[in-house]
Amino acid sequence: MEAIMEVKKQNALERFVEKTRALFARESDPEKRWTQLAPALAELLADPEVKAASKHWPDCVPRDGRAENLLFYEDPDFGFAVNGLTKGEARQGNGGRARIHDHAHIYTLYGVLDGHERVERYDRLDDRSKPDYAVIKKASDVLVGPGEIDLVRPYEIHTEVTVGERTVAIIIRSQKGGGFNQGRYNPEKNEYYESLGPRQTPVEMFGNR
Ligand SMILES: [Fe+2]
Repeated sequence: MEAIMEVKKQNALERFVEKTRALFARESDPEKRWTQLAPALAELLADPEVKAASKHWPDCVPRDGRAENLLFYEDPDFGFAVNGLTKGEARQGNGGRARIHDHAHIYTLYGVLDGHERVERYDRLDDRSKPDYAVIKKASDVLVGPGEIDLVRPYEIHTEVTVGERTVAIIIRSQKGGGFNQGRYNPEKNEYYESLGPRQTPVEMFGNR
């Protein structure tokens, strides 16, 4: 009798996770890990099945002062997380601006999968000696589109601004967000405060085809 072997093809998320785990297993230095991870994310962003699936991902909706991220994967050993961020109709109003923030102690790779948006980066100018006070100044303002990847190091200050179209990002974080405070900045009043990061909504990346 002939054995019938079914070979299950890895999907793009599984390939990404495998590559990331291999990199993290051989490299423990965070700066090296996160600069070397970009090509694997670029491959994930270039996968046509991922882009097709993303058309069906639900809109992320900010609620009760918290943003929302889709959670596709959290690694049981290394702790990194794969998030989706969709900005649909609800995010186009109000100037389309997310709050200016940092990601606290974690590293983040922010990759645009679909649509365009602006990424603003800020420098911090004060000496951090006052708890509720921060002076920041815009350092860059860049229009980004599909395939572009931004490395956000710990405590780097930034925001995204929509430009009137649905945008989808895949975000890789060194630790799942939502369980710790992140910095928030109001440059008009030189205010600084901290609050919890995005709610994590588990979603199957390829669940709705
Ligand atoms: Fe961010």
